[in-house]
Amino acid sequence: MTDLFAVQDKIRALTERLHYLNHQYYQNDVSEVSDQEFDAMLRELQELERQYPEYAQLNSPTQRVGGTVTKQFPTQEHRFPMLSLANTYSEADLREFDERVQRGLEGAGYEYVCELKFDGVAMSLRYENGQLTQGVTRGDGTRGDVVTSNVRTIKTLPLSLRTNQDAPAIPADFEVRGEIFMPLGVFNDLNAEREQNGEPLLANPRNAASGTLKLQDSAMVAARRLRFYAYSYLSPRRDFPTHSATLEALKTWGLPVSDTWRKASSIEGVLEFIHYWEKRRFELPVATDGIVIKVDDLRQQELLGFTAKSPRWAIAYKYPAEAGRTRLNEIIYQVGRTGAVTPVALLDPVPLAGTVVKRASVHNANQIAALDLRLGDMVFVEKGGEIIPKITGVDLLARPADAVPIVYPTNCPACGTPLVRPEGEAHYRCPNERGCAPQLKSKLEHYVSRKALNIDGLGAETVGRFFDLGLVRDAADLYDLPQRRDELVNLERLGEKSVQRMFAGLEQSKEVAFDRVLFGLGIRYVGETVAEKLAAHYRRIDPILNASVEELAAVPEVGGVIAESVAAWAQDAANRQLVERLKAAGVQMELVGEAPQPLSDRLNGLTFVLSGVFEQHSREELEQVIVRNGGKVTGSISKKLSYLVAGDKMGPAKREKATALNVPIIGETDLLAMVSDGGL
Ligand code: IVH
Repeated sequence: MTDLFAVQDKIRALTERLHYLNHQYYQNDVSEVSDQEFDAMLRELQELERQYPEYAQLNSPTQRVGGTVTKQFPTQEHRFPMLSLANTYSEADLREFDERVQRGLEGAGYEYVCELKFDGVAMSLRYENGQLTQGVTRGDGTRGDVVTSNVRTIKTLPLSLRTNQDAPAIPADFEVRGEIFMPLGVFNDLNAEREQNGEPLLANPRNAASGTLKLQDSAMVAARRLRFYAYSYLSPRRDFPTHSATLEALKTWGLPVSDTWRKASSIEGVLEFIHYWEKRRFELPVATDGIVIKVDDLRQQELLGFTAKSPRWAIAYKYPAEAGRTRLNEIIYQVGRTGAVTPVALLDPVPLAGTVVKRASVHNANQIAALDLRLGDMVFVEKGGEIIPKITGVDLLARPADAVPIVYPTNCPACGTPLVRPEGEAHYRCPNERGCAPQLKSKLEHYVSRKALNIDGLGAETVGRFFDLGLVRDAADLYDLPQRRDELVNLERLGEKSVQRMFAGLEQSKEVAFDRVLFGLGIRYVGETVAEKLAAHYRRIDPILNASVEELAAVPEVGGVIAESVAAWAQDAANRQLVERLKAAGVQMELVGEAPQPLSDRLNGLTFVLSGVFEQHSREELEQVIVRNGGKVTGSISKKLSYLVAGDKMGPAKREKATALNVPIIGETDLLAMVSDGGL
């Protein structure tokens, strides 16, 4: 018989040892054992935990490699709201900030801590009895997603804290806030790999980090090598006198704190810090977009307090966007899902803000003309928060004699159809919706994408390939694929298994709710929210196809432009046919489940516009109150409107219009009183 005590001891010993080695490696840069030895111990622990899961420790080092799959992250309210910082871009603003601090502290002396502003994803970590117990994203500042299993895969983050006699004791329960980021090297590798696979590139390391944290499979998160820098400590007690003391304590406990922070005894010292890092910051492994200045003394922080959104004791200074100069070699034209043509500039590679830039966006034809861009020109490129830089000007003095004026194409670069530019729009468009390959392809890609039908085993690349092979042209064709099984299994890189998975994915997509199907149809301007609203209002596709522009525009959140786009789409016989074929394939064209029962008819014949932020109920709930009591909610204020329900922060234009048209303005409580017992 196995000695269970021995097993338990072994698990404990391995866990301890691996924690210690991790700490030595990531915090102290010391390798006490070879990688092979480390991996061998980790595998031994993994195997023991597999056999005896009851003895595995919550924060076992094996969590680093991931393996948990979370379908949907639960959300949780923050114990301390996650606020943002006021931003400035100028020295003058900083001096004003300093004066405000000075006035607020009524002449007492004060010091600042200057830190770099890391450009990643804010994260709140909870440690209880020295153990990491929770990682929650910022969310809306009040509630965030609980992504603990993903956070546990971050190798430089201690799952269990350590202390020594010289270090402050570890409080039983506290939170650490900081930034999760994707190191630039990892980001560049990841994009290189995506480029090779023909996958869309990630815009910047911040998006990459935030996308990674939302992955459901923590093993995939582990592979992305995210990192973390701590920058605040929060607890219900005041455990430390100063912010700098908290940073020091966090570090001694093994939490990663960037060594870049410094104290400054005056605003002059702050400015020095800013100048010191202006260029040097690009040598760091993490993207930074500015610095953060914090009053050091925590009592003084308390004294200064907060505005509704941000602390008065801190401010962020943002560096100006980095600019570079390089040669414009070519303009290529990309055709999107709705036929919009976007010019993209191909450049001589130029290092800019830590990456090498080869492409830049040129928003539209107007901009090409406004800048008088020519091929061969030396152009200025700027990179703001986004990784895709933009061309901001031409170095006319360096214009080569043979620079070629750019002639914007009059015909679609993909299908040759003459381009059109609808009045008032900036983009040229290819009107050949049904015959232009990139448009058809991206419609298919959209249909199978995660937020639409989310068809497992059928990604953008595969649908593109099927399209090129002439196997599919539209979404309904996808459901005929099972009849072509023999052809498919013989395709290179596909095979029996993938085909099986794809067919199962197609079958499952027939269960996807109607609102997502509606979104998946790719009607211009019908995003996720509008699709939800339309689905909730009409419940079935047929009344949507038959609704007039006015009727559609009366649905909350559906304005005139959207209504016109939906109606035009519905009038097209080919679209109606597509809907019929999808219906015949078994795709959901109506909401399942009972429609909510009416509560009363007290609001019969009355129409309402809801505007602003409400206190007792969300806007959706108030909409339900109105609809379920017989009333109607619309989007625009007209003479015929019965009431404008005004919440907090309603725009002044709405109020003026309602007053001018004699529409009564009421509040949330008035509305609830009108239905009294008919509330939710
Ligand atoms: S302190 C009360 N320090 O910047 C706000 N924030 O707008 C406390 N950030 O989303 C934040 N580096 O994620 C602080 N050294 C730093 C930071 C930092 C980056 C981010 C933070 C937040 C945003 C603030």
